[in-house]
Amino acid sequence: MTDEENCNTSANRSLLDVLDARLSRRNALRVSLGGASAAVLSACGGGDTATAANAGPTAAAKRGPGGGPLRLSFEAVAKSTADRVTVPAGYTATVMYALGDPLDDATPEFRNDGTDTGFETRAGDHHDGMEFYGLHAGGKRPDRSGSVRGILAMNHEALTDQFLHPAGSTPNPRPVAEADKEIPAHGLSFVEVRKQGGGFGYVRGSSYNRRVTPLTPMRIHGPARGSLLMKTKYSAGGTDCRGTINNCGTGTTPWGTFLTGEENWAGYFTRSATDNTARGGSTSKSVVSLNRYGRSQGAASRHGWETAGADDRFARWNISQTGASADGTDDYRNELNTFGWIVEADPYDGTQALRKRTALGRFAHESAAFGIPVAGRPLAVYMGDDSRGEYIYKFVSEAGWNAADANAANRITTGDKYLDAGKLYVAKFNDDGSGRWIELDIANPAIAAFAAYDFADQADVLVNARLAADAVGATKMDRPEWCAVHPVTGEVYYTLTNNSNRKVEPSGSSQMAVDPANPRSYADAPSTSAGNVNGHIVRMKESGGDGASTVFTWDIYLFGAESGADPVKVNLSSLTADQDFSSPDGLWFSPRTGTVFIQTDDGAYTDVTNCMMLLGRPGQVGDGAPQVLQYAKADGSMVSVRTHVGAKPTPDTLRRFLVGPVDCEITGICETPDGRAIFVNIQHPGESISRATVTDPASYLSHWPGNAGYGAGGATARPRSATIVITRDDGGRIGVDGGHDDDRGGDRGGHRS
Ligand code: FEO
Ligand code: CA
Ligand code: CA
Ligand code: CA
Repeated sequence: MTDEENCNTSANRSLLDVLDARLSRRNALRVSLGGASAAVLSACGGGDTATAANAGPTAAAKRGPGGGPLRLSFEAVAKSTADRVTVPAGYTATVMYALGDPLDDATPEFRNDGTDTGFETRAGDHHDGMEFYGLHAGGKRPDRSGSVRGILAMNHEALTDQFLHPAGSTPNPRPVAEADKEIPAHGLSFVEVRKQGGGFGYVRGSSYNRRVTPLTPMRIHGPARGSLLMKTKYSAGGTDCRGTINNCGTGTTPWGTFLTGEENWAGYFTRSATDNTARGGSTSKSVVSLNRYGRSQGAASRHGWETAGADDRFARWNISQTGASADGTDDYRNELNTFGWIVEADPYDGTQALRKRTALGRFAHESAAFGIPVAGRPLAVYMGDDSRGEYIYKFVSEAGWNAADANAANRITTGDKYLDAGKLYVAKFNDDGSGRWIELDIANPAIAAFAAYDFADQADVLVNARLAADAVGATKMDRPEWCAVHPVTGEVYYTLTNNSNRKVEPSGSSQMAVDPANPRSYADAPSTSAGNVNGHIVRMKESGGDGASTVFTWDIYLFGAESGADPVKVNLSSLTADQDFSSPDGLWFSPRTGTVFIQTDDGAYTDVTNCMMLLGRPGQVGDGAPQVLQYAKADGSMVSVRTHVGAKPTPDTLRRFLVGPVDCEITGICETPDGRAIFVNIQHPGESISRATVTDPASYLSHWPGNAGYGAGGATARPRSATIVITRDDGGRIGVDGGHDDDRGGDRGGHRS
């Protein structure tokens, strides 16, 4: 692909106009491919040429009557602490798939009083990342451009366990009946949804409906398959494993499969207080690895499932070394190594085993976002590791992209082709606005010479990617959450949600100093403890627009802040009351409009507003200016940090679109291919609840969605995580009007009258 700079030479059109025109050409080709996602396009240059040659009359048809420049077209939603979902005037949000909803006809309706069982055939808890997979209107086969029926694939990250039982969660030892509800309430849902009236509903009894749980058999793929590190009592060959847990962000592949990231999995496992000795002492490799991933000896498990009984489905949550074998095939000492991966599933085919893609590295995964595929070139997959001071990664496939694979008949083996062999990189941000991708390879001298851990082979590097990234001096970031790729520029955006350990003068090994890519440390009254309280969004531009590049430039798209905060030290993006936000987490670009959806998981601004979703129309790296932040040290001397701030948003380029109910997180966002419906997840409303008060509805912080008329319980209901669908009352595209792709007034595809 040609350099992005060469594509943007027009002197008379705004950047957003240029992006809009490119989007139009891209969308035209998408249609001509039958909806295959971004199959062969580069962001500019050759991509545009290919489009012009191939799109033919479709392009003109899709441009339709036009409607001026593409623009955000809704009135900003005000901040709110109301226990409801608020969307702009002219939009409707409808609850459609909540915790406990039955997937088949045999499972009873959800009573929502803690007595419900059988989560293997119900919606799980804590809805998180989510993707839409179109079905033909007849519902019998995949149709990637289908907007009338589809499959929602989503994560169920965690539990509000108190609400799953009549009188809350029983302390250890855990009753079998409680553990057997809690374990399968995690995992994934695949659920058919179908247009009903102006909105969507889920299809109970659809043959596409299924749950994946922490007990579902899966295959280990990539370089760590069969490794000594992966051998367990369950799989002596180290080739198989059971289940996925704490699934947070998602991704969708160019060949139509679903990717799910395993995030805070370590906390589900316990280690005995003497396990270091059992493993050969505190400097033994497995102990160094376990400590680096958050499981020091004596750590308690989050839910105590290992106390529910001797059966293997409970015993595996205790990862202490108890067996006599040399290789760990008689206990679960290596069980933790089977978690922390990007996992691939075929949403259309439940007969295919899910695959853990070890080539992409093991850490606290969020989303997995593909760079724009270019025919013949490797694919890039961007990923983040969400913990304070962790890193930003990318995987570059060995195989070059073959556009025909967008419609491959066997999707999961297509995944083998692209995701089982390649290079894993970690990002280093330089002070001057440049950056470097450092390969995590066993042959890298810094990895071979690393004193803290003696890597045996490439499987060891991938299983212990955090340690390998330590070895090469990667940049510690402010908790990388989701990443997303701009569908036209190909630039990569990462939410950095917040970091209480970011300091001007760090002390101890867990704190880190302000730096150009993580430049803020300030207190948010009444707290006097400084850190990156509100988070920011960094973006990166690969050299030459090539996802396989090892150098990039970067700036900071947005700094989260309260609109009234200090404009010199905190509100660096000059956010107004219609735009201000804190703790960005979910992040996704509409491939159709290039609009970015920013979702929050916040605890800092929640005295003023519940968590929210904003829509933005970003420019590109370098559209702003450098800025120097000055900090006074305790001894009176000054520290200067020079960062790179992107163009400040205007009311036309960033607006709040949604505010959620009380004590929730907004996460998970996808749309129908026609852009007329979006799906959003409301995670854990009213999650702050104790065993002591769970039987008293007056103590609940939230009663949503019962108080919105959904399901049992009404105004005093136990709160439930749920998927909502948002449509526009005039049938238009969500959030935007105009643009070269504007087809208002055309066929609205069966929209309600
Ligand atoms: Fe599950 Fe980092 O959010
Ligand atoms: Ca998240
Ligand atoms: Ca989060
Ligand atoms: Ca949360």
